[in-house]
Amino acid sequence: MNTSRFILAVVLVAAVTACREDSDDPIAAVDTASGTEGTEVVQEPASEQPDESPPAEAPPPPVEGGGDETPPPPPPLEAKLDIDGLPLPDLSSSHDYEAYLAAQPKYYTRISSPFGNVDSQNNTPFDNRVTNAGANLGRVIFYDVRLSANNSVACASCHIQKHGFTDPKTFSDGFDGGKTGRHSMSLSNAAYYRNGKFFWDERADTLEDQVLMPIQDEVEMGMNLFDLEVKMGETSYYAELFNEAFGDEAITSERISRALAQFIRTMVTYESKYDQAFTAGEWDDPNFEAVFSEQEMLGLKLFSGFPGTERDSLGCIACHQTSAHTMDQAHVNGLDADTSSDQGAGNGFFKSPSLRNIAVGAPYMHDGRFATLMEVVEFYNSGIERHRNLSPDLTSNGQTGGTPIRMSLSQEEKEALVAFMEALTDENFLANPIYSDPFFPNTVEGQLQAQQAEEQASEDTPEGGK
Ligand code: HEC
Ligand code: HEC
Repeated sequence: MNTSRFILAVVLVAAVTACREDSDDPIAAVDTASGTEGTEVVQEPASEQPDESPPAEAPPPPVEGGGDETPPPPPPLEAKLDIDGLPLPDLSSSHDYEAYLAAQPKYYTRISSPFGNVDSQNNTPFDNRVTNAGANLGRVIFYDVRLSANNSVACASCHIQKHGFTDPKTFSDGFDGGKTGRHSMSLSNAAYYRNGKFFWDERADTLEDQVLMPIQDEVEMGMNLFDLEVKMGETSYYAELFNEAFGDEAITSERISRALAQFIRTMVTYESKYDQAFTAGEWDDPNFEAVFSEQEMLGLKLFSGFPGTERDSLGCIACHQTSAHTMDQAHVNGLDADTSSDQGAGNGFFKSPSLRNIAVGAPYMHDGRFATLMEVVEFYNSGIERHRNLSPDLTSNGQTGGTPIRMSLSQEEKEALVAFMEALTDENFLANPIYSDPFFPNTVEGQLQAQQAEEQASEDTPEGGK
């Protein structure tokens, strides 16, 4: 009957007792080691003293038949730390990034894709192709707080997976309490931007250049690359990860850059409802419409154009191009008549990240001025401002800097556009373990979650077999 619970209880109690008696607690040992090495330990673990309470007496024998008594309290959880006293990643799982990229749908990779060829936008350089070992290293670096001067902020602090790798805050918090000057950018489909430039203002010429800039930014991470190499060399795990990725253990900023860029280029998203629709059929295939609701279908037509629509496309796709919904180059979309407070890439031109996962990436635009997609649509509908460099695609006479277009959308059409953009949300991508935080399993919260999952699993196991 309750034998499995009984065994579980005995095992748990034995484990607690063993743990309490063991003065060589691995975490205590780690603390001593890092202390004597004189490394800079910024984050002291909450409890340094081994538990002084006497070892638990023999557990009270479980009462026969009373399966519901409270189990013995589990040992207090502590974050697992590395030899430098800072968070330790859990490297037990390895991920197949190459297979994930290779599984991209045909309309991403084929020359004759509807809306143009996605792959021709790929900015991966020949000498830094994604490898599993490289992306795996990049993932650890991306989530490592060691990249900031006071070990408080990682790339992932401002690029959060469940938000498509942007930040719900309008301006992100830097390592020392400062705020970034612009809204964080989604990294979904960052690999697809033909000219390969990065940031809203395109100030980084390549992704390899870009990834080292936040590390050295005075507001964001405040680190210098030489100190970072030293700091990473004081961990137990980086030498091996660099060896696997690059063939020897040297930790250099060039390799940090390459690994981070590889990891970011794996962030390709292709499992949204939009993708289900495309996978189901081509333009004239009725399956296509079977996946999309009528409303999403109307949104698609407005956004991208589509044969047989009574209304012209609004031409969003002219700038948010291909099925990856990334840009071809920076544009002026008429947010402000006067762009002198932020000229972006110059003269008011801005890049936009891909619109994939845009529904979870609020707020919108380089300054996060719009809180909802409906506000964005209302802006394009009625709020485009006259600007000397306004894109011809957003003027009524097709001239650069011409009269801003007024779209006169009905409420139904506005809602359809929003619904279409919501269909670009890829839940698999947003929860895919290949992008998850490798440090999380070793945090108190992560260990707690694992414990709860274990308990859940043992409760779900049918007792006594068939
Ligand atoms: C404190 C918050 C913060 C941190 C930390 C941070 N970023 Fe960013 N990231 C931003 C902001 C804000 C922008 C947009 C800045 C701009 O364009 O001026 C941005 C832009 C980017 C872009 C440009 C995307 C595009 O499509 O052009 C990439 C790539 C990126 N970050 C990667 C990283 C990496 C890699 C790290 C860690 C080494 C990192 N970020 C750390 C806030 C942050
Ligand atoms: C002329 C090119 C152009 C056209 C056409 C265009 N956009 Fe944009 N879009 C941009 C630019 C440029 C930005 C970034 C502007 C900025 O932040 O300064 C942007 C930003 C956005 C964003 C916010 C992205 C983010 O990460 O915050 C959304 C959403 C969006 N556009 C939707 C649309 C829709 C819907 C349409 C059609 C009604 C459309 N766009 C038509 C150029 C264009």
